[in-house]
Amino acid sequence: MAQLWGGRFTKETDKLVYNFNASISFDQKMFKQDVEGSRAHVKMLAKQGILTDDEKEQILSGLEDIYSDVLNGKLEITDEYEDIHSFVEANLIDRIGEAGKKLHTGRSRNDQVALDMKLYTRDEICEINGLLKELLEVLIKLMEENPDTYMPGFTHLQKAQPITLAHHMGAYFEMFKRDRQRLDDIYRRMNYCPLGSGALAGTTYPLDREYTAQLLSFEGATLNSMDSVSDRDYLIELLAAMSTIMMHLSRFCEEIIIWNSNEYRFVEIDDAYSTGSSIMPQKKNPDIAELIRGKTGRVYGALVSLLTTMKGIPLAYNKDMQEDKELTFDAIDTVKGCIALFTGMIRTIKFNKDIMRTSAMKGFTNATDAADYLVNHGVAFRDAHGIIGRLVLYCIDQDKAIDELSLDELKAICPVFEEDIYEAISLETCVNKRTTIGAPSPDAMREIIKINKEYLKLG
Ligand code: ARG
Repeated sequence: MAQLWGGRFTKETDKLVYNFNASISFDQKMFKQDVEGSRAHVKMLAKQGILTDDEKEQILSGLEDIYSDVLNGKLEITDEYEDIHSFVEANLIDRIGEAGKKLHTGRSRNDQVALDMKLYTRDEICEINGLLKELLEVLIKLMEENPDTYMPGFTHLQKAQPITLAHHMGAYFEMFKRDRQRLDDIYRRMNYCPLGSGALAGTTYPLDREYTAQLLSFEGATLNSMDSVSDRDYLIELLAAMSTIMMHLSRFCEEIIIWNSNEYRFVEIDDAYSTGSSIMPQKKNPDIAELIRGKTGRVYGALVSLLTTMKGIPLAYNKDMQEDKELTFDAIDTVKGCIALFTGMIRTIKFNKDIMRTSAMKGFTNATDAADYLVNHGVAFRDAHGIIGRLVLYCIDQDKAIDELSLDELKAICPVFEEDIYEAISLETCVNKRTTIGAPSPDAMREIIKINKEYLKLG
């Protein structure tokens, strides 16, 4: 047991207490960030005359050695240390002696861990953002390739009006675009450096907090030392943003699962992204989509868990906050894995365009357009709605689509119908006439694709 704080204690820590308290098993994920933070701290201490240049050099080169030894496997992070901060400091003292004991001058593990977690989170936000961008690239490609791939649009999972595959993919494009914007917002808001806040009340050393902030590429220093060591808002925001990403992925997965079912057959998931059954030889299951849908609960759980942990914590640092790590790390890894897998699945999925088209032609997806036809020929909309309702009943009885009826049959229900009704309610017309911003016509979609391609160019 290597501890930083044995001085005022007369007894060894109980082994169970030690294990319960220790965080090395998971905070070693922040090793790189811990070293990076220490480097900046030491440079600042030397600049302020709190350490000599010689001490600074010794510490920096000791940290460098520890860093490379861990990366190339020469030095192992073991549970002999309480946490990652103790591991680095103890090893530094082992290696360079007296100067190593000065590393922690003007610093507490409270501001140190707050910094490490922010550095870690910042990197991960960028990674998630990049993964979402790759997904958006796949979606925009599908949008460009499918401006006139017709399919039914649904409300209540009942066929409603015809749309295109481009339009459907475009809906998800907007969702994931907002997800990236949320991540950018969080990054901007959290990007202030807590280092130098000490345990809770700053420090009596003449630290230059703006300098460390600058060395670590923060926008500036945080403005209240108590808040700095106990702020976990940015993690809650990130967990909320990741929950929303998962919610979007989960909705998309749900659709893929439905579309992949024997009844729909709109898509076929690539063999590389499907799994079989141990008993039913015919099965090809959408397990990946189901797992992503399933893992959504886990990320929501992390959000609720951290909100609950934080709700009763008095200022400033309390050990409860150590609970932020495992769940945040797990949620981040889950979200990254899910986005990457989902992107691969959607990139390789096969769309059965004929089946989608046929499906769009059935189920009276052109009923609204038939009513609009009557409106354009002088019938009031409410009357037109009633007439088409009766027409649909007749069609159901005859087991036909509206455009499979003869003009005589149509006229028997409403004399306003003429030969041009067939053109007016064809699949192409139903989609192509919907030209307002955000609507599915290929012309309207082209505009949206152009806007979104410009957006992707921004980074
Ligand atoms: N492992 C701790 C955490 O994750 C580091 C901070 C420890 N601070 C303390 N006062 N015990 O929160």
